[in-house]
Amino acid sequence: MQLRPNQRTKLDDTDDKQFYAYPRFVTHVDEGFIQQLTDLYRERLQPNTRILDMMSSWVSHLPEEIEFSHVEGHGLNAEELARNPQLDNYFVQNLNENPQLPLADADFDAVLNCVSVQYLQYPEAIFSEILRILKPGGVAIISFSNRMFFQKAIQVWRDSSEGARVDLVKGYFNSSVGFTPPEVIIRQSDVPNFFQWLGVPVGDPFYAAIAYRK
Ligand SMILES: C[S@@+](CC[C@H](N)C(=O)[O-])C[C@H]1O[C@@H](n2cnc3c(N)ncnc32)[C@H](O)[C@@H]1O
Repeated sequence: MQLRPNQRTKLDDTDDKQFYAYPRFVTHVDEGFIQQLTDLYRERLQPNTRILDMMSSWVSHLPEEIEFSHVEGHGLNAEELARNPQLDNYFVQNLNENPQLPLADADFDAVLNCVSVQYLQYPEAIFSEILRILKPGGVAIISFSNRMFFQKAIQVWRDSSEGARVDLVKGYFNSSVGFTPPEVIIRQSDVPNFFQWLGVPVGDPFYAAIAYRK
């Protein structure tokens, strides 16, 4: 899969660094989503392993009771990353400017990307980098919901249904030879549509695509 040039466009195509210049000490999804993500990490991540949290911020959502040997953070805002208590080290890099990660081959047991994949304009290049830095058997966990900074998400994401976004992320994995077939976890609200129309609040839907380096 290769995106077409128009599918990579953002409504706001000013430098992403400007958009993230001021720190946002907020959570981008609700408690239910974060709980599901932390549970998934608890299930898939092992103690004493090396983790990269890509496109991170002041929170990584990692289970607090698990001791990792190293957690590397990456993002666009140094102040947010400096405040993240789960990171051992971090670096700032605009992946839409330079997709090449300054990290060694086969050095990580897990690469995580939470609620950010929609901002990648060259996802094929980034997923090939994720594959490169993963150890054989290492896992990539890409999670997302239906919220986004609309003006910074790429066209194909903005204009896709939630189901089509799942297929898109699977396609990103499949664009690099060397990942296992991606597994998908979907947890949508069980509040019936009728009650949603009446305004009964529904939680953020949870989507995760998971693949391992063969
Ligand atoms: C919605 S926040 C999610 C932050 C964090 N993963 C979390 O769970 O709260 C989106 C993140 O994507 C990152 N990001 C957006 N555009 C980027 C780009 N062009 N290059 C690198 N990172 C980018 C920013 O660091 C920002 O913190």
